[in-house]
Amino acid sequence: MNKAQAQKHIERLRKEINYHNYRYYVLNDPIISDFEYDKILKQLIELEKNFPELITPDSPTQRVGGEPIKEFKSVIHSPQMLSLDNTYSYDELREFDNRIKKTVSNINYIVEQKIDGVAVSLKYADSKFVQGATRGDGTTGDDVTVNLRTIKSIPLYILQLDKLLKDFEVRGEVFLTKKQFAQLNQEREEQGESLFANPRNAAAGSLKILDPKIVASRKLDIFIHTIPIPPAKKFTSDCRTLEVLKDTGFKIIPHSNLFNSIEKVIDYCTEWDEKRHELPYEVDGMVVKVDDYATRIRLGETGKSPRWAVAYKYPPMQATTKVLDVIFSVGRTGVVTPVAAMDPVFLSGSTISHSTLHNFDEVARKDIRINDTVIIEKAGEVIPQVVKVIIEKRPKNTKKLRPPTKCPVCHSKIFREADEVAIRCINVSCPAQIKGRLAHFSYRSAMDINGLGFVMVDTLVEKGLVKDFADLYFLKFKDLIKLERMGEISVQNLLDGIEKSKNQPYNRVLFAFGIRHIGIHAAHLLVSRFPSIDKLSKTTFDDISCIRGIGPTVAESVINFFKDKENRQLIDRLKMVGLRFSEDITKKTDQPLINKSFVLTGGLKNYTREQASEIIVNLGGNVSASVSKKTDFVLTGTEPGTKFAKAKALGVKIISEDDFVKMIKIKK
Ligand code: IVH
Repeated sequence: MNKAQAQKHIERLRKEINYHNYRYYVLNDPIISDFEYDKILKQLIELEKNFPELITPDSPTQRVGGEPIKEFKSVIHSPQMLSLDNTYSYDELREFDNRIKKTVSNINYIVEQKIDGVAVSLKYADSKFVQGATRGDGTTGDDVTVNLRTIKSIPLYILQLDKLLKDFEVRGEVFLTKKQFAQLNQEREEQGESLFANPRNAAAGSLKILDPKIVASRKLDIFIHTIPIPPAKKFTSDCRTLEVLKDTGFKIIPHSNLFNSIEKVIDYCTEWDEKRHELPYEVDGMVVKVDDYATRIRLGETGKSPRWAVAYKYPPMQATTKVLDVIFSVGRTGVVTPVAAMDPVFLSGSTISHSTLHNFDEVARKDIRINDTVIIEKAGEVIPQVVKVIIEKRPKNTKKLRPPTKCPVCHSKIFREADEVAIRCINVSCPAQIKGRLAHFSYRSAMDINGLGFVMVDTLVEKGLVKDFADLYFLKFKDLIKLERMGEISVQNLLDGIEKSKNQPYNRVLFAFGIRHIGIHAAHLLVSRFPSIDKLSKTTFDDISCIRGIGPTVAESVINFFKDKENRQLIDRLKMVGLRFSEDITKKTDQPLINKSFVLTGGLKNYTREQASEIIVNLGGNVSASVSKKTDFVLTGTEPGTKFAKAKALGVKIISEDDFVKMIKIKK
């Protein structure tokens, strides 16, 4: 096949793939199997491999191809990305209608779900997706094109049905489904990372990540609702626009509806107040907009929001129930968490019978007692929490809830560290902690042991078969087969899973120990600096705390862990069974810029910014987006930006490109 033939073939495949993406991700109605889809995609990948010069950014193969970027550029929005005035009652909606009626009499309102997501703008040139940006302050946002390209429901090249849209902008909401959100938080919990409070925060946080590969793993989605400058005469109303958007391959919000009176609008809002909980994504209200564009122009806008649209926000869904008991749950680090057991109650889509009360300060602040009637609501519609106690309904003789003085599981004494809200059982042999540690050890992101879930861990500890991680590797078929509900196949699966875990790399092993404050990221940093556990166990507090990205808390925790004789013995036993305690890294012997932090500003003569950054990183340094006191060097090219001034103000060393060239030559 010659280049011209390849080009033709590639174009045909891309069209085909784009169409099937549209069927799958936008219409939710695929017409070919995943297998057939993969076959076409593979053909395209193969052809692009043979003719790399034919790869273009809008190829469906490029959705996750991008390398991490250093910083987001700014994008100016024109026109400004407006926001909406909020209303919280139907009377306020009626007032909105009355205001409009002063200017125009016959009105059609288009009513749409208000998506609880992150507002973005997408620009297309010659039908190709060329730039995507966050709303920012409405005037200036961040260029997050590489991240938005990972969203499969954003067409990279639009289907030209009637050639109406070529150079244009659309706006919409990036969101995470409730399911993706729950999965993401579960993974973060497994990895010891902080949890997102709700899907919106998770979506916003994801768009800020500089590595598009991580963003792709978040599986963001988008709804498009606006064309800020309708490009052709045919766009006379929102209704019509939405039809064209849908036909050209955009995912629009389902169930939008047209009404000719505010009372019908209100009925529709009421209808969705209940039904929204069945949707796979979060809806926090309804948006009511004048449908006709000429009328919109007549109504105009105030500084920040249009006069022709308003948001009706649903009150947070709450329910009243009774606290039947407060249970103290002990986690793997010994933290004792109060959990309310409640009279089961249905709230926004699910039945709730338990709610974490977080800690005892929170319990005291809200004065939650057993037998209290409480109002609960779902934080981000997912995690239930107690909002407040209805004091009037409190029965007589209830008692203030006191933190336990003894561990509810092992009965040893409980402590509270001065700077912490949490209280802890510090007996490392407490069965609750042992179970928690073993479950953590077995997590997918740690040793990933097939067959060793929480129930299995519970059984193994209760039966006295396992007390620490090393015991897992000495489990025998004859002991496991005696356990209830364990057949030959499940026993063998578990033993195979345990055996296979011996191949996990050292950084996962270190993370799997569940040392306090050591998440997957810290484990990674420690391993890159100390490529074996022998080196790590002999190091000092200062050597750890000077690693960039690791602070004194982590350093102290590592030192304490290795001080403990039992931990050292555990490591020896795990070494004996063959776990990996060193990393086979091809060590870069020459890292003269080790731990030196650079910021780049302005254009360079000899390198692109990416090339300069790569050189710095390869020599052991790192590159940040903004200047701070911790910056070692600001590398300044032609037409430097504000970073130059900031560096001067902070007294950070400024170097020219010539200095940089000398620096890397001498160092080499
Ligand atoms: S129309 C002038 N429709 O809500 C802005 N916005 O609180 C016209 N939003 O900034 C926006 N769902 O990002 C519109 N169906 C919907 C929406 C929606 C969510 C966002 C939008 C806006 C914010 C205002």
